[in-house]
Amino acid sequence: MKILFAASECAPLAKTGGLADVVGALPRELTRLGHEVTVVLPFYARIRRQIAGEPKYAARSITIPFRYYNRFVGLVDGGQRDGVQFYFVDCPELFDRAELYGPAGGEYSDNAERFGLFCRATIEASKLLGAPEVFHVHDWQAALIPVYLRTTYAADPALQGAATVLTLHNAAYQGKFPPNTTEDLLFPWDLFTMDKVEHYDRFNFLKGGIVFADKLTTVSRKYAEEIQTAEFGEQLEGVLRGRAGDLRGILNGVDSTLWNPATDGHLAAHYTAENLAGKQACRADLLHAFGLEHVAASTPVVGIVSRLVTQKGFDLVAAIAEELAARDLAVVALGAGDPYYEKLLRGWAFRHPAKVAVRLGYDETLAHKIEAGADLFLMPSRYEPCGLNQIYSLKYGTVPIVRATGGLDDTIEEWDAAQETGTGFKFAGYHPRDLLAAIDRALAAFRDQKVWTQLMRNGMAKEYGWKKAARAYVHVYEEAAQRGPWPLNRPS
Ligand code: ADP
Ligand code: GLC
Repeated sequence: MKILFAASECAPLAKTGGLADVVGALPRELTRLGHEVTVVLPFYARIRRQIAGEPKYAARSITIPFRYYNRFVGLVDGGQRDGVQFYFVDCPELFDRAELYGPAGGEYSDNAERFGLFCRATIEASKLLGAPEVFHVHDWQAALIPVYLRTTYAADPALQGAATVLTLHNAAYQGKFPPNTTEDLLFPWDLFTMDKVEHYDRFNFLKGGIVFADKLTTVSRKYAEEIQTAEFGEQLEGVLRGRAGDLRGILNGVDSTLWNPATDGHLAAHYTAENLAGKQACRADLLHAFGLEHVAASTPVVGIVSRLVTQKGFDLVAAIAEELAARDLAVVALGAGDPYYEKLLRGWAFRHPAKVAVRLGYDETLAHKIEAGADLFLMPSRYEPCGLNQIYSLKYGTVPIVRATGGLDDTIEEWDAAQETGTGFKFAGYHPRDLLAAIDRALAAFRDQKVWTQLMRNGMAKEYGWKKAARAYVHVYEEAAQRGPWPLNRPS
């Protein structure tokens, strides 16, 4: 099939979180299955910097109309990478900026225009390049593509055959803007109703995508169920329940060319499940990087790599920070995001400099060093659509401690000492006591190195490749392509 991916992130070109990992890996796997995949991204400053020489333009000036003016967008041919064709939407006044979405913890004030333009430009680009059979669009930033296709472009003969699939990587980020966005993006006001893009008197990009896409997916089976409830649905549970028959949960995979302790170029040493010796060298290297060389071999090292936002559950860690610091363990944390959580971690490290070390910022190499060098990995998320770091941890023999939610629950199985089965430690309630109890179970298991090695190997033996997920997506694409004529089968 001919598939077009539209997304706001793609590793290694532009990344803030797991969305980039998925958009970096899934297209390549689809081409291996014989499909033709094009990825369209905004031409951010950081992508421009990664292009050698002058950008090569496939189109110089595509007109994107707005309410009071037109913008003129270029289409940069990013060439092929591993069989996947890349194009970048070039609009310097909107995308040639330091960040993807806004300054730390914030949003650019013109994000509706930036990603509205991205969606419309992607459709225009697809007409120049030859329309795909399926537009696979990711998260709110690309969610207006199905909306435009079924409204503004509904009568366009070039796009009649195109189906749409929307993947929700995180239902909490919806792209909510003032009602006037309707007119600014040249939609008719009859779109601004509660069965379409209106949501609590806001223009909601993600809701529009949920209503208008042919098929919906999210990134784990459990999260697909959770988002249909009030606790996790972020007020979209009603509209998601209305489309339950078209919603599938497909678990993300691991890109083993990037995340494999036997080959990872960021590490001081390599290792495998059979020969774990290199992991000790990675641990020493990690402790050195954080200035914790004095930590004894018998002391477990707990790693954290995370966007620092409410989702990730660090208020639970804050509530037990002093009790944890009284235990025999060391903590190495890497994260960036909300200044509130950055301050919280910094304060913890300041109070316990011999045990807790924190690095604030985004650091690819350090993220890999933590996955390899830590003994335990902590991910107490309030909710987690899939979560990739706990899966990377399994691959690296670093035992995860997670909250039993979303993809964390689907990927981690509680250690059973009697049967010697399981891959990590889980807790269900969102309570500091429950987290502390899970950590204590992990610390107790760590004391017996024979037990611990078995636990590490259980995780390392798990298969989390992309092939299975890619096949599941193809199935969804086929179903989407077979949909009846729009809008007759539109959900009410
Ligand atoms: P989310 O997408 O919600 O942030 P995931 O676990 O799916 O969570 O993916 C996070 C990805 O981002 C992983 O690849 C992780 O290594 C990376 N990451 C997160 N924070 C940082 C950071 N501060 N520095 C480097 N990589 C980071
Ligand atoms: C989102 C989610 C994360 C998921 C990632 C990739 O950022 O927060 O859980 O793994 O998308 O799908």
